[in-house]
Amino acid sequence: MKINKISKISGTIIVPADKSITHRAIMLSCIACGKSVINNYLQSEDCFMTLNAFKQMGVSIEQENNKLTVTGVGIKGLKKPIKEIYAGNSGTTTRLILGILAGQNFSSTICGDESLSKRPMKRVIEPLSLMGASIESENNYLPITINSTGVLNSIDYTSPIASAQVKSCLLFAGMYADKTTTFTEPIKSRDHSERMLKSFGADIVINNLSVSIKHCSKLYAQEINIPNDISSASFFIIAGLIVPNSNIKILNVNINKTRDGILEVLNKMGANIVSDNIRTESGEEVCDIEVKSSKLKATSINADIVPRLIDEIPIIALCATQAEGQTIISGAQELKVKESNRLFSTATQLKKLGADITETKDGFIINGPTKLKGCTVDSFDDHRISMMLSIAGLIADGETEILNSNCINISFSNFYEVLKSICK
Ligand code: S3P
Repeated sequence: MKINKISKISGTIIVPADKSITHRAIMLSCIACGKSVINNYLQSEDCFMTLNAFKQMGVSIEQENNKLTVTGVGIKGLKKPIKEIYAGNSGTTTRLILGILAGQNFSSTICGDESLSKRPMKRVIEPLSLMGASIESENNYLPITINSTGVLNSIDYTSPIASAQVKSCLLFAGMYADKTTTFTEPIKSRDHSERMLKSFGADIVINNLSVSIKHCSKLYAQEINIPNDISSASFFIIAGLIVPNSNIKILNVNINKTRDGILEVLNKMGANIVSDNIRTESGEEVCDIEVKSSKLKATSINADIVPRLIDEIPIIALCATQAEGQTIISGAQELKVKESNRLFSTATQLKKLGADITETKDGFIINGPTKLKGCTVDSFDDHRISMMLSIAGLIADGETEILNSNCINISFSNFYEVLKSICK
């Protein structure tokens, strides 16, 4: 993809549905009793991995425009898949589904693409094994075979990392365990699983950084309206701030308190952002966001806020290259084990474009503002890096070519159409 410098962006846009919530809505609907309807689900490669996995395990899922109708089979009603479950690039599919597979009465194998096969799975293998799951894998990487017997014991687990994927995996497995399973995390990560499990009827108690779930034999079908994804919106929020003379509005964005770290950081940087029409839909807070070009100042981001903006760090790094002063991002070592090593991919590609950015052991040091100059950069087959570099192309002199930009399909297949619609 080739992107040219632009003089302004303006207009009203809609970004795709929330990826995290879509995965969870599909998974819980499939193991609930009755017909669930999921409106505005995310039609992207990652979510199709989850969809296909459950179809393979015998669940009937009707797809009609952007609505899914799922006939749930009950918590233990999944069928043994006839072949391996392929999770593609999706860490969320893999880690969350393992929690559900652990409670079934069959063995199954899950595998993924090259990037996913290099991502750490010990974080879920270890606690699931403590619950009594029998798991085979080489060095804790995919492919993983889980030999489930339907028997799990409850545990009280303290996770060394703040990961919503690990938390969700254990909460899902906890439904199948004999008593109450408790998961404690060091910093609060996104809580979509807790909210959705509650609405499906699970007995969940949240106590600061701990979540407990009781044994559960039945979930109840729901109708869910999925809000739009703040992680996808973040590319356009920052485009609106750093492209001069811009004014854009993004509708129906999820601003769940465990996901809105980007808004807090940008506010501190002096961004002109207004959240309007704040409301609640399907248990999640939603609003419309209006953004105007702003003069930004540097900031610091540390471990405490990282889980609330984990996927937005590459685009925040781009934003910091345009802010006055030195921005220091720390406590973000988890970025090394995302779809690419995002500390490396972000720093090396922004540096190619002329940014003053240094990768550190757990983040970046960025001095700004710097003028960017178009050149050829690489997405490392990482959707968020591809979109971040495309936004960089809007402010870089001349032309920026992004290699391997197709990976945007993982979360935001119409990204370039939306971008084109606001480029004036
Ligand atoms: C996700 C959790 C986060 C995030 C990922 C989606 C989820 O990962 O980076 O894109 O849906 O639970 P971790 O749990 O590994 O931090």
